[in-house]
Amino acid sequence: MRIEVCVGSNCTMMGADAIIVSLENLKETILEKNGIRPDFSLEIEIVRCLGECKNKQSVSPVVIIDGVVHHNASREEIMSVILDAAFECHDHQFETLKDNN
Ligand code: FES
Repeated sequence: MRIEVCVGSNCTMMGADAIIVSLENLKETILEKNGIRPDFSLEIEIVRCLGECKNKQSVSPVVIIDGVVHHNASREEIMSVILDAAFECHDHQFETLKDNN
């Protein structure tokens, strides 16, 4: 799974840094969890302004997950998308991981 987090000025002002911190914490711990898909991987890329904020208002922060653009991305939304993809069972450990991030 490839996550691109925009750290352009608009996205940074709207909380991109907090998303990055949560992603890095998740990346350190997620592969040790029971029930993780064996083929799951997490690649985090920090990118400069993706141009989304130039064309539309109030879209920051912007995160792209496997090519899908998420506007107004929240930490909870991004973690949920990742965990849904990472675990074979949807009764995953989101609450536990969320509390740790
Ligand atoms: S600063 Fe993130 S899309 Fe422009």
